[in-house]
Amino acid sequence: MDLSNRVALVTGAGQGIGRAIALRLAEAGATVVVNDLAETAERVAEEIRAHGRPSLAVRADVGSSPDVTRLVATAIASYGRVDILVNNAGIARDQLLIRMSDEDWDRVLNTDLKSVFLCTRAVLKSMLKQRWGRIISIASIVGLVGNPGQANYASAKAGIIGFTRSIAKEVASRGITANAIAPGFIDTEMTQHLAEGQRQELKKRIPLGYLGSPGDVAEAVAFLASEEARYITGQVLSVDGGMVMA
Ligand SMILES: NC(=O)c1ccc[n+]([C@@H]2O[C@H](COP(=O)([O-])OP(=O)(O)OC[C@H]3O[C@@H](n4cnc5c(N)ncnc54)[C@H](O)[C@@H]3O)[C@@H](O)[C@H]2O)c1
Repeated sequence: MDLSNRVALVTGAGQGIGRAIALRLAEAGATVVVNDLAETAERVAEEIRAHGRPSLAVRADVGSSPDVTRLVATAIASYGRVDILVNNAGIARDQLLIRMSDEDWDRVLNTDLKSVFLCTRAVLKSMLKQRWGRIISIASIVGLVGNPGQANYASAKAGIIGFTRSIAKEVASRGITANAIAPGFIDTEMTQHLAEGQRQELKKRIPLGYLGSPGDVAEAVAFLASEEARYITGQVLSVDGGMVMA
């Protein structure tokens, strides 16, 4: 997969899955704009530059419209365009519905779903102009099958899937594809809070028998971003060790 001459923007790329995606796209030759809320974005951009690829860190809250405008304007001012958008930033605030606060709901919907709308809308002009683009959004198997304690997170992730299918239809005639990836349980900070007992139980539900790595998700993103994936749009690709087979 050759992504040289492509400019990619990866949100929430300071650690975990986003970091692995940013590094993988750079390895395939892309120039990568690394976004995160935290200063970790700068570390990842430095890591990419150390490997000889151009990279820029932009700290911004992808749930905020003015921040996203600044993020995309900075990317375009620096590199001229955005060819590949990876909507990866996401948080979870788990709670049984009966105890879920308005804030838990709003924070998750804002960071996990509104961000996808804001970032996609912001990069679309550049993609439409050049009649080429890749929009890849990180959903979750929880958005497909639900999970107790995650009504907010599941709603946001299911929303990403509906959004992806709608815009895939909207922009298909302009050479732009939109796909979602639904990871299962991936070994990152997000899943580090699981107790050892829970981990063992979980592994029994994964046909392949182990948690995935951030790199497993990054490989799928690199493929969907490539020229080779040009005929794939509006799809949800599960990267989950076989947990959800539909
Ligand atoms: N880890 C898993 O098992 C798993 C499974 C399914 C889906 N996912 C999804 O994959 C994505 C990445 O997850 P992860 O496990 O790497 O999580 P993580 O918590 O390790 O990393 C998420 C990153 O996003 C950043 N971020 C959070 N809010 C932000 C905001 N408003 N603006 C910009 N950046 C922000 C954080 O600072 C952090 O660096 C998320 O969308 C998550 O929902 C993860």
